[in-house]
Amino acid sequence: MNTLELIHGIALVLHVIFVLALIALLVIGLRKEVKVIPKGLTHAGWSALVAGLVLLGLNHPLNNHNATKYPLYDNAKIGIKFLFLAVILGIAVKNAKKTAISANLYLAMLALAISNLIIAVTW
Ligand code: HEM
Repeated sequence: MNTLELIHGIALVLHVIFVLALIALLVIGLRKEVKVIPKGLTHAGWSALVAGLVLLGLNHPLNNHNATKYPLYDNAKIGIKFLFLAVILGIAVKNAKKTAISANLYLAMLALAISNLIIAVTW
């Protein structure tokens, strides 16, 4: 295994940990009657994004190295995942200091995060 493959493996594990943390924080926060942006949500989101960007950056070099093992990513899939996470982060950053947010806004973040998980696994 070369260095790029090692970094790819680490970035993938971190990406999955951060996206699961993001979803877990949102699910745990569902129990609160007054919905707020969960503490740590923006950290998990930014970290997932950075790890995702590292994976993207490594895709072409790894594909050059071994195209069967590392096929090029589907741009539409990544574009949609990026858009969904950008919306989640936008809502989270804008409302981080609020003492209450609407349940619909909260559920929208959760729905986008779960949609991204489904897209990541099934597309
Ligand atoms: C809430 C948002 C997100 C969720 C739930 C999510 C979830 C996942 C999961 C579960 C995987 C592993 C399964 C697979 O390989 O398909 C994955 C892989 C990946 N994600 Fe995400 N992701 C999110 C956002 C993003 C964003 C914003 C980017 C890009 C900037 C991104 C880029 C990638 C890439 C490139 C892989 C493929 C890694 C590989 O197969 O080598 N993800 N994502």
